[in-house]
Amino acid sequence: MTGVGAALAAAIERLGTAGVPEPRPDAEVLLARALGTSRAGVITRAREPLSPEAAARLERLLARRAAREPVHYLLGEREFWSLPLAVDRRVLIPRPETELLVETALGVAPAARRVLDLGTGSGAIAAALARAWPAARIWASDLCPDALAVARANFARHAPAVRGVAADLVAPFRSGTFDLIVSNPPYVSDVELSRLAPEVRDHEPRAALGGGPDGLAVIRRLLAEVPRALAAGGWLVMEIGAGQAAAVHELVAADGRWLGPRLWRDHAAVERVVAVERRGGEWTRS
Ligand SMILES: C[S@@+](CC[C@H](N)C(=O)[O-])C[C@H]1O[C@@H](n2cnc3c(N)ncnc32)[C@H](O)[C@@H]1O
Repeated sequence: MTGVGAALAAAIERLGTAGVPEPRPDAEVLLARALGTSRAGVITRAREPLSPEAAARLERLLARRAAREPVHYLLGEREFWSLPLAVDRRVLIPRPETELLVETALGVAPAARRVLDLGTGSGAIAAALARAWPAARIWASDLCPDALAVARANFARHAPAVRGVAADLVAPFRSGTFDLIVSNPPYVSDVELSRLAPEVRDHEPRAALGGGPDGLAVIRRLLAEVPRALAAGGWLVMEIGAGQAAAVHELVAADGRWLGPRLWRDHAAVERVVAVERRGGEWTRS
């Protein structure tokens, strides 16, 4: 029978050969899952034999990871805003930089009480905002019913008051419904899509990624259609892709209904989050 330590060495070798960028941590995590222990447990049990059942579980996980399936889909979970969220191939895996979107929304619209997370995917942003604002009424929408099913399961666990709605952008909502709309829309251009890592390109939902030829197709629609659903003085806070800030600036300037934009950079100094305010609120502020 193979030992745990030898199985780990073989797993690292196999994932490295398959082109997995960080084979050691992934091999440790997958072996830990196969053994029902932690990464530290894998190390401390290095001299123990690997049971045939654990070996079979490990083989199934390694085969999927070697085919470049993201490790979070294999584990079925990803942490966001300190919340362990269920994820699978129906939803984008929430990214750490999207926490900047949550922080920005909390900062620019601290009094928001009617909030929409548009394109909620796993429900990450809506769940985080619901934790921060227990008194707010929060809706979470997605065009894709499969994604919404994942979000609803996450809301049941972490934020039961959030309401999930299947919708194309703001189509079903009445005029002036929201104080704040947050969105991490699909914003990857067709050319960038073809260059993404296999984990993203071949496994994450295309509908969560693709923003058309220049990546701005959904962002353009958001800037054009969201004003109707916002109250005067309401905010749209959205994530954008690297290099899209100038184009977003032009789109906002050409549309007389917005004030702004304000931009925030992520940890890699990329302009990542944009906030614009629906005109009208400036007349009611003292
Ligand atoms: C980049 S993912 C973001 C998921 C999640 N909010 C996050 O940040 O991890 C974009 C999401 O928008 C949804 N979507 C795409 N087009 C949409 C549309 N026209 N109306 C509503 N949702 C849309 C996709 O199904 C996907 O779940």
